Amino acid sequence: MKICVVGAGYVGLVSAAILADWQHDVVCVDHNEQKIEDLLAGKLPIFEPGLQELVELNRRRQYLRFTAEMAEALRGCEMIIVAVGTPPAENGHPNLEDFWAVVKSFRENVGNNVIVMIKSTVPVGTSEAVSLYLNEKVSYKFSVVSAPEFLRQGTAVHDFLHPDRLVVGCMSPEIREQMKELFQPLDCPKVFTDWHSAEMIKYASNSFLALKISYINTIANLCEALGGNIQDVAAAVGLDHRIGQAYLKPGVGFGGSCLAKDTQGLIAQGEVHGVNVWMFKDVLEVNYEQRVHIVQRLTEVLGNLKGRKIAILGLAFKANTDDLRDAPSVTIIAQIIKLGGLVKVYDPVVDSSSLPNIISVSTADNPYAACQGADAVVVLTEWEEFLDLDLKRLQKSMNAPVFIDGRYLFERKRLLEAGFFLPERPSFNEWPVVQSMISAR
Ligand code: UGA
Repeated sequence: MKICVVGAGYVGLVSAAILADWQHDVVCVDHNEQKIEDLLAGKLPIFEPGLQELVELNRRRQYLRFTAEMAEALRGCEMIIVAVGTPPAENGHPNLEDFWAVVKSFRENVGNNVIVMIKSTVPVGTSEAVSLYLNEKVSYKFSVVSAPEFLRQGTAVHDFLHPDRLVVGCMSPEIREQMKELFQPLDCPKVFTDWHSAEMIKYASNSFLALKISYINTIANLCEALGGNIQDVAAAVGLDHRIGQAYLKPGVGFGGSCLAKDTQGLIAQGEVHGVNVWMFKDVLEVNYEQRVHIVQRLTEVLGNLKGRKIAILGLAFKANTDDLRDAPSVTIIAQIIKLGGLVKVYDPVVDSSSLPNIISVSTADNPYAACQGADAVVVLTEWEEFLDLDLKRLQKSMNAPVFIDGRYLFERKRLLEAGFFLPERPSFNEWPVVQSMISAR
């Protein structure tokens, strides 16, 4: 099949590379000329395990090419995949400016029957609106399919190839058959439904994942206040197959470009129709509070943050990505700096120059350098390499050995054995000890 993928972000690039790998004739187009220039030079705009190899291989085999020219990319294609970003707008609804600009260009540049597959996350009702718009005043047929994508950054290639399910919303039996054939290589349950349901499945899935994370973080806060080991609690709760283990990792809360955005999007859509969506508002509130909570803990244990040296291990919103969108690290570092703290960061992949300009930090080449002379260290990304740290060496190099594990990455016992103070509520009586260490400096 001759396929044009619009948008060279996570979803677009991964879809393009894999469809090319399935020997379709794929062109990936993006209006960002620099991005295309980089791709043509063999440089990927994102860090995503396994993607570089897949792109290189299929470019060599000539199944995959890149261009910034929309008209040229659309010429003669049998299917167009829309994978442009739909970032949040001020009012909580997704911003569909780029999405509609792209859709409008189809009517101008396509002159044959074509399938338009929407992979961008769009409000419920959008596929119908797209179909109405595209099929107005044309003699050929635009068959719109809503095929939401469930891949995660960091494991995108694997997730695309091994999804828990495939969701396809389409209104014609012939297109449904073509979709079955296209996705035949995927061995997973395939849900064929209508446009509205397919769109809602995406919002319902992301907001449920967000709900699960805010739920476990509330339980974590209760454990901290009342006693109880959240890791044991989460593991045991998750063993109930009705609940499941996934998305019960407590910590600093969710970040990235999707869970908060889609939960917010669902709130906005519900409010337009007078549906009570308070539950989702609480999910977002709990999530934000997790970030504030870390700064409060630091302030409580160190007395205040003025001139205190804080080491931050991990900037990315999660491991195996270089993405800083809505990363908890950005909010937390900004708050520490506002309170007068001095921040030194280390992340194995993210360059600290990608932090917003107003955030001024120093950067270390390794975790030990970040922690040298620090009054506290905060882990904000669950990078696997942190698990190999020599915790005793780290502890000895610090001015005050305060450890906040924002990802529950380390076993508590291991941290305590290395001599760290863990600023949790039950260890309240240790805080004056820490503060005297700092004032004796
Ligand atoms: C999320 C969904 O998981 C994908 O299914 C979806 O396709 C994607 O959004 C999207 O809509 O494009 P992603 O944002 O890449 O994927 O990342 P996740 O792995 O879901 O993690 C989101 C955030 O939740 C991260 O900050 C992560 O650290 C946090 N998280 C995740 C937890 O705090 N606890 C957990 O148990 C799981």
